[in-house]
Order: sequence, then C-alpha cells, then structure tokens
Amino acid sequence: MTGQLVGEAITVVYGRNVAVDSVSMEVTCGQIVGLIGPNGAGKTSFIDAVTGFTPMTTGRVVLNDADVTSLAAHRRAALGLRRTFQQLRLFNDLTVRENLVVAAENDTRFGLLRDLVRPRKSAVATDRALELTGLSDVGDELPRDLPAGTRRIVGVARALVARPTVLLLDEPAAGLDTQESTALGSTLTDVAESGVGLLLIEHDTELVFRICSHVIALDFGAVIASGSSEEVRRSDALISAYLGVPDASEPDVSGPDAGGTVTKSPTGGEG
Ligand SMILES: Nc1ncnc2c1ncn2[C@@H]1O[C@H](COP(=O)(O)OP(=O)(O)OP(=O)(O)O)[C@@H](O)[C@H]1O
Ligand SMILES: [Mg+2]
Repeated sequence: MTGQLVGEAITVVYGRNVAVDSVSMEVTCGQIVGLIGPNGAGKTSFIDAVTGFTPMTTGRVVLNDADVTSLAAHRRAALGLRRTFQQLRLFNDLTVRENLVVAAENDTRFGLLRDLVRPRKSAVATDRALELTGLSDVGDELPRDLPAGTRRIVGVARALVARPTVLLLDEPAAGLDTQESTALGSTLTDVAESGVGLLLIEHDTELVFRICSHVIALDFGAVIASGSSEEVRRSDALISAYLGVPDASEPDVSGPDAGGTVTKSPTGGEG
C-alpha cells in the first residue's frame, strides 16, 4: 500500500528510562491519527524516533512500503516524512511568505542551485502551502503581528512546503484559546483531505477527539488505549492516567463527566 507510515514496536531508551515502550501505529494518507498522554508519556520521543532524530533500541519504520529505519533524518524527510517541533521558532523579522520560502530553500543543500535553474519551484510550493492553510491573505505580514493561532498555522504551512506524505505535528495547538484551536482543527482537516497523513500530538484532547479518526494514548511510554475517538475518550486507563489515580474503575473516578474531555494539561508554548 502506498502513502502510509508504519511504526512497528518502536522503543526508545534514555539511560535507564524507557521513554517509548514497543509502540506501533499506522498513519495513512488523508487520515489524522491522534497521539495523546500526560507530560513525559513519550509522545515527542516517539516522533523523534520515527523521524530519525533519536536512535531506537528496537523497532522498524516503513514509509510508502520502503523500510527507512536505517536512514538519517534528512533522508526520511526527503522521502516525505516531515515533522514540526514543540517550539515554534518562526523568523519574526521575515514575512510569513519568507518564512515558508526559507523552509523550501533549506530543503536540500542544493536548494539555492535548484532555484537558480527552476526559480518558480519554491514560489509555487509556498503559494500552495499558504492556500491550503488559509494564509494567502497574510503572506506579507510579519508573524509577530499575527494572533498566536495564526502563527501556529504558519508553523504547519512551513512544514507543508516540502509536500510531505506524512506530517507529524508536535503540539500545534499549544497556547491557543478555544476559538484558535477550532480554526487550527479545520485547517488540519483541510490538509488531511488534500491527501497528507497527519499524526497529531496534542494536550488539547477535545481537538484530538474531534478531528482524529484514530487515537492512541501513551502513559510511561506504553500504549494504554487505542481506537476510535469515542473508545479512547471513555477508556478507564486514559482517565486514570490523566487524573493520576491507580484504579479508574472506581465509580467516583470518572465523575459525572466521564464521557467528556479528560483534563487538559498544556505545556510549552511556542518559545
Ligand atoms: N533527550 C532526552 N534525554 C533523556 N531523557 C529524555 C530525553 N527526551 C525525553 N526524555 C525523557 O523521556 C520521557 C518522555 O519524554 P517526552 O518528551 O517524549 O514526553 P512527552 O510525552 O512529549 O511529554 P510532553 O507532553 O511534556 O511534551 C520523559 O521521562 C523525559 O524526561
Ligand atoms: Mg513532548
């Protein structure tokens, strides 16, 4: 099958700390898969391992039927496996469009040469990413003049310039209010519908449950729940992990809102 990322039994160990414990998942093009879990659950470490930013102790990564496990991060990226980082790091003295052009030109070390030969390539990719994310009207603005939610969408657009097959998003909604998070959610849905596979790491579980077709929950590096949004939302193990109690089957643990959202635990910000 093409257009698919498969991570099989991925384990990441830092010293004696098992940050990711034999986690498997698949992301197909056009699909949004959610990855949730409390602080320190291993979500970023999983992305780091899949994209080649940190070594794995065990596991296999397959992209579009090709085993990329032994490839360096930049080679996986060149094959269409892209990520964003928890810290946003936009160039605030460049316009939105220039931020995207810089991303396109840094794509390979031959980017500059390529642009001399085919000068329109970056411009076309940039325009397409701006359009897909609804940012065409703010292309000439500076990121610092935009609301936090729009800046976060610029971060997504920047990753889309390279036209990834699968994009792994590390807390794109960090620091956003409800309205901004809703806008980001519809942008991500549009991006997925354009054919990109998305893995969404988020503490905003309401956003995850709303837009993801499949959700995986981690705690202490291991999968504690996996299934549809409804299944995972109601999982005792998830409620337990977020509330920090050992036994979620106790009647008063889930409370009157057991079918609702688990506790939001925001971290980071855009730095
Ligand atoms: N580079 C590193 N070296 C050593 N330990 C690390 C490193 N990165 C992460 N860890 C540890 O691995 C575990 C998982 O961390 P990770 O950052 O993957 O969690 P997370 O789910 O992304 O958390 P958060 O929601 O806070 O971003 C934690 O115990 C963390 O302290
Ligand atoms: Mg993280």
